[in-house]
Amino acid sequence: MKITVVGAGAVGASCAEYIAIKNFASEVVILDIKEGFAEGKAMDLMQTASLNGFDTKITGTTGDYSKTANSNICVITSGIPRKPGMTREELIGINAGIVKMVSASLIKHSPDTIIIVVSNPMDTMTYLVHKTTDIPKNRIIGMGGALDSARFKYRLAEALEAPISDIDGMVIGGHSDKGMVPLTRLATRNSVPVSQFISDERLAQVLEDTKVGGATLTGLLGTSAWYAPGAAVSGLVQAIACDQKKIFPCSVLLNGEYGLNDLCIGVPVVLGKNGIEKIVEIELNTAEKAHMQESAVGVQKTNGLLEL
Ligand code: 2OP
Repeated sequence: MKITVVGAGAVGASCAEYIAIKNFASEVVILDIKEGFAEGKAMDLMQTASLNGFDTKITGTTGDYSKTANSNICVITSGIPRKPGMTREELIGINAGIVKMVSASLIKHSPDTIIIVVSNPMDTMTYLVHKTTDIPKNRIIGMGGALDSARFKYRLAEALEAPISDIDGMVIGGHSDKGMVPLTRLATRNSVPVSQFISDERLAQVLEDTKVGGATLTGLLGTSAWYAPGAAVSGLVQAIACDQKKIFPCSVLLNGEYGLNDLCIGVPVVLGKNGIEKIVEIELNTAEKAHMQESAVGVQKTNGLLEL
């Protein structure tokens, strides 16, 4: 199983590290445009192999896409991250050109690859890959909801003063500060609805804290987060690589599902060896449907900024 990670920055390197530590891939190639950067990250990570107990072979390359040939899964993290006060959507001008070039270069050397898009604005970048390449839609996946759901569970565990392993919850919709749709109605503490443990006001605070989870960290760190994004991507990669048939909220191209068409937005999907095995349509209540519609309008507005 060969995985390529484009972008040796914090998110890409964290993703590569978590993939290696999980030890399901034979090879991880990290590619970056900065001279020697990917090679250095790969070598540093390989020097943890005996310490972290993995046999995955991690190599780095400066811009040589031939080294990524025949990758089963390619993760695109390249592009500029947010600075404090920026929205993800403000990154489109630079990141769209990068993602278009990177995806074309990856597919040239790995025509059968599954692509996972992380670069922001992620829903629009995922849509861009659909519109500028000819790989089937089940093999183009945007990572946002898995990260947002992890932040949702973190905030719920904090509010309930419960172990995070007891918490389940999902965030669908756009991966944007205003577009996320945390499914508070369906969130549980070991099968018990979370609403039994906290007030509506506290739950509303959890919802708001979840939506700005990325921006909160960017304000603290001075740049985008990387540990949780890297871990979230590695979970999607593992589900595909190991054909786990696990459900994750992912940004995928919709053609009528959830009443939405011709856009990529976060919905529950089953991930396996074919990438998107199935889009799962859950019954949303009136308020959730309205939030999804509002979220879709926001994503389509950003998509409108693309020069396709
Ligand atoms: C985040 O929310 C980078 O969009 C990513 O942290």
